Amino acid sequence: MEGFSAVILAAGMGTRMKSRHPKVLHKLCGKNLASYVADAAREAGCGQIITVVGHCADEVKAALGDGMEYALQEQMLGTGHAAMQAIPLVREKYTFVFNGDAPLLRHETVRKAIEAHKASGNSATVITAMLPDAAGYGRIVRNGDGEVTGIVEQKDASEEELKICEVNSGMYVFNTDELREALGKITPDNAQKEYYLTDTIGIIRNSGGKTGAFTVADADEIRGINDRAQLAEAERLMQMRINRKHMMNGVTIHAPETVLISPEVVIGADSEIYPQVILEKGTVIGNGVTIGSGSRLSGAVIRDSVDIQSSVILDSEVRENTHVGPFAYIRPNCVVGSDVKVGDFVELKNSNIGNGTKISHLTYVGDADVGEKCNFGCGTVTVNYDGKKKYRTTIGNNAFIGCNSNLVAPVTLKDGAYTAAGSTITDEVPENTLAIARARQVNKEEWKDRRKK
Ligand code: UD1
Ligand code: MG
Repeated sequence: MEGFSAVILAAGMGTRMKSRHPKVLHKLCGKNLASYVADAAREAGCGQIITVVGHCADEVKAALGDGMEYALQEQMLGTGHAAMQAIPLVREKYTFVFNGDAPLLRHETVRKAIEAHKASGNSATVITAMLPDAAGYGRIVRNGDGEVTGIVEQKDASEEELKICEVNSGMYVFNTDELREALGKITPDNAQKEYYLTDTIGIIRNSGGKTGAFTVADADEIRGINDRAQLAEAERLMQMRINRKHMMNGVTIHAPETVLISPEVVIGADSEIYPQVILEKGTVIGNGVTIGSGSRLSGAVIRDSVDIQSSVILDSEVRENTHVGPFAYIRPNCVVGSDVKVGDFVELKNSNIGNGTKISHLTYVGDADVGEKCNFGCGTVTVNYDGKKKYRTTIGNNAFIGCNSNLVAPVTLKDGAYTAAGSTITDEVPENTLAIARARQVNKEEWKDRRKK
C-alpha cells in the first residue's frame, strides 16, 4: 500500500486563546493538542510526520520531541503558507494535512478518509462534517451535482454561503504532486489577506483534478479549538471518551463528568474512582483499587486492592492492600510496601517503607529506608536537612518510634529499636534497645503557692 505523509499545521499564534503559550500546547486531560494530532497520525500508520512550527517554535518542538520532522514558518501568513513550508519535505505519494488545533479526530477516521480518497480517484478530499451551528468554520461549496467545488471562509462568505451547514474540518487528503502544484498558485487575495490552504481545492478543480469530501459521522471529531470555551468543550468530550473506555473495561467511575484521567493512564478491573479525582500521566492502577474524592495521582504505580482517600501521590509506587490517607502526601521517589498504613497528614518523600509498617498520623518521613512492621508514633519527624545537605535515616524491622520523636539524620535505628516519646535521636539505636533522649521530668512541689508569695 502506498503510504502517506502527515503535515500538522501548528505555527499559528492562537490569538483568540489570549495566552502567553502557543495554542497547540494547551491541554485536554493533561495532554497537549498537537500531541493528540501527532498520535492520531502515527496510529493511522503515516510514513512521516512534518509539523509546521512558527509561533514559540522552540517550545512546541520541545513538547513534541524528536519523533518527527519540523518545518519552520517564520511569518504566519495563513494555513496555505504553512503548508508551503512543509511540502518540500514530503516524501510519500499522499499527504494528509492535519489542523494542530483539532485533537478529537480519531486515527480510525484518518484511515477511513485515506481509503476513501484512494478509492474515489480524487486529487483532493476534504474532511467535512455537518454542523447545525457552523459559525467560524469554512463552508463547503458544492455544485448542482453535489461535487465539491471549493471552500469559502466565514469572513469571505456571502449570505447564501453562510447558510451552508457542511463545514471544513481543516483536514484534507491530497495527492502530494497536485498539492505541491496548487500551493504554488494560491494568493492572499481575501478578507484576511492570508494564504488560505482552502483555496487549493478550487485551484485543483480548475486545473482538471477531481475534488471530493469525506464526511465524518461524528461531527465532534473535527472540532477546532480557537478559544478557551472551545477548549473546555473539547476537554469534556475527550474526558467522556477516556472515562467511557475505562468503564467498558470494568472500572466503576462515580460522577465521571468530574473525573479527569489522562489518555495513557491504565486502570485494572473492579477499581472504583470517586468524584473529583485527577489521574495524570504515567499512572498505572491495579485491580480492586479504591480512589476516594479529591485525590490526585501523577506518575503513580498503584498495586491491587490499595485504598486511597483524598491524597496526592507523585511518581511513587504503592503496593498491595495499603491504605493511604485521608490527606496524605506521597512525594516523588517513594516505594511504599504492602499492607502499609500511611494515615492522615503524613508526608513521605524519597523513601522506602517496608511491608506492614504503620505511619498513622502527622508524620514526615523524608530520605528514609524503613523496614517491615515498624510503628511510627504520631508526630514523628525525620530531620533530613541541615540547611545545606540532605541525609538518610535507616530503620530496621519491627522498630517502634514513640510519639513526637525527631530522628536527626544521618542516623540508624536497628531491628526492634524503640524510641521514647519526645526523644531527639542523634545516635544509632542498637537492636532491641530503648533510646530515651530527652530531659527527665522534675516535679516542683507546691510551686504554685511559692510563686504567689
Ligand atoms: C481553519 C480553516 C477553516 C476550517 C477551520 C477548522 C483556513 C483558511 N481555514 O480556520 O476553513 O473550517 O480551520 O478548524 O485554512 N496555522 C499555521 N500557520 C498560519 C496560520 C495557521 O500553522 O499561518 C495553523 C494553526 O496553528 C492551527 C491551524 O493552522 O493549528 C488552523 O489555523 P486557525 O487560525 O485556527 O484557522 P481557523 O480560523 O480555525
Ligand atoms: Mg482553528
